[in-house]
Amino acid sequence: MKIALSYLSVIHSLDEKTVENIKNSSADYLHMDIMDGEFVPNKTVDISSLEMFKDLPLRKDIHLMVEDVSFYVSLYQRFSPTYITFHIEGCLDVKKNIETIRSSSSKVGIALNPFTDLETIKPYLPFVDLVLVMSVEAGEGGKSFIDITDKIQTLKKIREENNFSYIIEVDGGIKDTNIALLKDADMVVVGSFITNALSYKEQVEKLKKIVG
Ligand code: DX5
Ligand code: ZN
Repeated sequence: MKIALSYLSVIHSLDEKTVENIKNSSADYLHMDIMDGEFVPNKTVDISSLEMFKDLPLRKDIHLMVEDVSFYVSLYQRFSPTYITFHIEGCLDVKKNIETIRSSSSKVGIALNPFTDLETIKPYLPFVDLVLVMSVEAGEGGKSFIDITDKIQTLKKIREENNFSYIIEVDGGIKDTNIALLKDADMVVVGSFITNALSYKEQVEKLKKIVG
């Protein structure tokens, strides 16, 4: 299982020390939460304050919680993200978003909130590389985990039956006490459990010991 570290809980106090901590954390990806204050009430900082992550030797996993997907896809090209994920909720042109991300040479992710029905993303599963199952309502870090393991099982089954190739990622409220529930996921996003600690590396290793 891969671990993607989310900086959201420390985004307003990003400094050299935090960047060092992230760099040495042995996380597999940097999960970059991007919020526009419209799709979700919160707005993340502007791109200039994220510049320090650009040359970090960590693959980037961008999670767009925005209305205007194409605008942010082009804006964040400078980070050459491995994945760019957008939300199905309120999306008017899913195929266009998939194509926009695909042509930006990032892999395509589609996200759904904990209470959004899987049926809404089913038509797009043949065309995406990642499905992001939110285990908190998108919008802020440090919230409690919502059990969405049924969605993971269903997505796994659909993938096997249809020979689809998307990976399953889970995001929100994940800690040492609940990560074992997510053993069938391919990647988990962890924010505050890691960034609330002094040594990020210690927390990542604690999680990896549980899930291997
Ligand atoms: C919430 C974000 C998550 C969040 C994860 O909208 O998408 O990535 O930052 O942080 P924790 O692990 O603190 O829930
Ligand atoms: Zn996220």
